[in-house]
Amino acid sequence: MPTYTIAGKTVLITGAAGGIGAAAARALQARGANVALADLGPGAASALARELGGDRALALTVDVTDTAALADAVDRTTGRFGSLDVVFANAGIAADPPATMATIDEATFERVVEVDLLGVWRTVRAALPHVIAARTWQPDRSRLRQQGLPGCLRRGSRRRWPRRSQGPDRRSRRARPRRPAPGLLPGRSRFRRR
Ligand SMILES: NC(=O)c1ccc[n+]([C@@H]2O[C@H](COP(=O)([O-])OP(=O)(O)OC[C@H]3O[C@@H](n4cnc5c(N)ncnc54)[C@H](O)[C@@H]3O)[C@@H](O)[C@H]2O)c1
Repeated sequence: MPTYTIAGKTVLITGAAGGIGAAAARALQARGANVALADLGPGAASALARELGGDRALALTVDVTDTAALADAVDRTTGRFGSLDVVFANAGIAADPPATMATIDEATFERVVEVDLLGVWRTVRAALPHVIAARTWQPDRSRLRQQGLPGCLRRGSRRRWPRRSQGPDRRSRRARPRRPAPGLLPGRSRFRRR
């Protein structure tokens, strides 16, 4: 099982002032990572950055619905620490009070999607070129070749997955055990060290 040493790496965490973000920041920094702490409002992440110590923690004011602010946060992170190795798109909200599809109002639902779905996408998109450039990890191509990525065709898939008309009937297709996507089981990593 490959291991990953976080010491000396830089991790950008959105929603860093919240419960999970702050706990992740503390744990990662204790293992030697530099942490860029992004959250709403000027003061939200600053207290955590002060607690963690100024040399390996950077507080950033970022709204993940703002593409320009995310680009600026990534620039400031790489400017400060020299690289960006990992991004944790953790910022998120939920309807408050909790609501169901039947009871939630349209504006609240759209705000949740804006932050929890598009905010994650914008965060990863802003950070990804730097994470790739850092080249700390690369996809385990042998496993990808065998199993494919969710939503992607596997190599040789046309041979193994014939057209619907030529394939097994619905019942046998339903009975086929589903193979979990790579990296989605505890202890199985989609990635390996170069
Ligand atoms: N705690 C749980 O049980 C649980 C369960 C499922 C999913 N989650 C998800 O995990 C993530 C963290 O959960 P948590 O319990 O630490 O939540 P939390 O509310 O304690 O922290 C979320 C943080 O995200 C920040 N945030 C909200 N909107 C933002 C925006 N637009 N831009 C930047 N920052 C923003 C908030 O200021 C807050 O600091 C959230 O995405 C949450 O939806 C949590």
